[in-house]
Amino acid sequence: MLGSKIPIRSGAALEGLRAANGLARDVLLATAEQVRAGISTGEVDAFAAAEMKRRGCKSAFLGYRKYPGHICISLNEEIVHGIGGPRVIADGDIVKIDVGIEFNGWIGDNAISVPVGKVAPEILHLLAATEESLHVAIRHARDGWMLGDLSHSVEHHVKQYGYSVVREFVGHGVGRKLHEEPQVPNYGRKGDRPRLKAGMALAIEPMVNMGTEKVRILADQWTAVTADRKASSHFEHVVLITEQEPEVLTLRKRMFPQGVQDLTPLPVSELWPR
Ligand code: MF3
Ligand code: CO
Repeated sequence: MLGSKIPIRSGAALEGLRAANGLARDVLLATAEQVRAGISTGEVDAFAAAEMKRRGCKSAFLGYRKYPGHICISLNEEIVHGIGGPRVIADGDIVKIDVGIEFNGWIGDNAISVPVGKVAPEILHLLAATEESLHVAIRHARDGWMLGDLSHSVEHHVKQYGYSVVREFVGHGVGRKLHEEPQVPNYGRKGDRPRLKAGMALAIEPMVNMGTEKVRILADQWTAVTADRKASSHFEHVVLITEQEPEVLTLRKRMFPQGVQDLTPLPVSELWPR
C-alpha cells in the first residue's frame, strides 16, 4: 500500500474531523448509558438515532452497503455489526456499542464494550485486555513509525493472555468517508509499511476473542459471531497522528484505568472526559 494515498489532514479538515469525532463520542456515551438489563437492542438503536438527530448529525452506518441499523449493537459472542431488534439485554451480558456519525461531511467513529450487571471475571478480564490493547496501539500512532508495528502490537499484547484477534475485520483511515486508506489490522509484521505521518486519522479498533479467531456471519448477513460462540470484545478510538503525542479525537476516560490489574469497570456515566 502506498503511503502517498493516505490523506494528510490540516486546517479546516482537522477541525471537521475533531467536531465529528467529538460528537461520535458524545452519542456513544449517551447511548451506552442506556444499556441495562430489560431494554431491547432495538430500543438502544432508536435512542442513538434520536440522540444523533438532537445533536445535528446522522448515522454513518445506516445505508452503508445497505446496513439497516443506526448503530451496531453486538452481544456476547457477537463480534461486530449486530443489528438492533427485539432481543432483550440481560444481566451478565456484554454489549458492544459501535457509533459512526457524519457531521458537516466528516466522519466520527468509536466503540466500547459495556458489561451489564454481574459479569463473570473472565469476561471482565477480556474487556480490560482489549481496552489495554487499544491504548498500546495508540502509543504506536506516531509520526515516522510503521503501521505494521502498531498492528503487531495489538495481537502481541492480547496473545499473552491467550486471546485471539479477529482477522476478517480491521480498523481504517477516517475522513469524509467511513473507510479510507489505510486498513488498520489488529495483527501484522513489525516494520511493514505504510509509514505513519502527522495528519493521518486512523480508527483503531481491536476485536479480541476469548477463544478462536474464526468468525461466522449470521443469517441476517451482517452479524459476525465467534465460530465457537465464546465471548468477543471491541473498543475503538479515532486517533490523529501529530508531530507530538497522538491526539485521540474520540477521547473518553478508560473503563479499566489500570487495565487488567483492576477488573472493576468504571460505569459508563463516568467515562465522559470532563
Ligand atoms: N466501526 C465499524 C467499522 O468501522 C462499523 C461499521 S458498521 C457498517 O467498520 F454498517 F457501517 F458496516
Ligand atoms: Co470503525
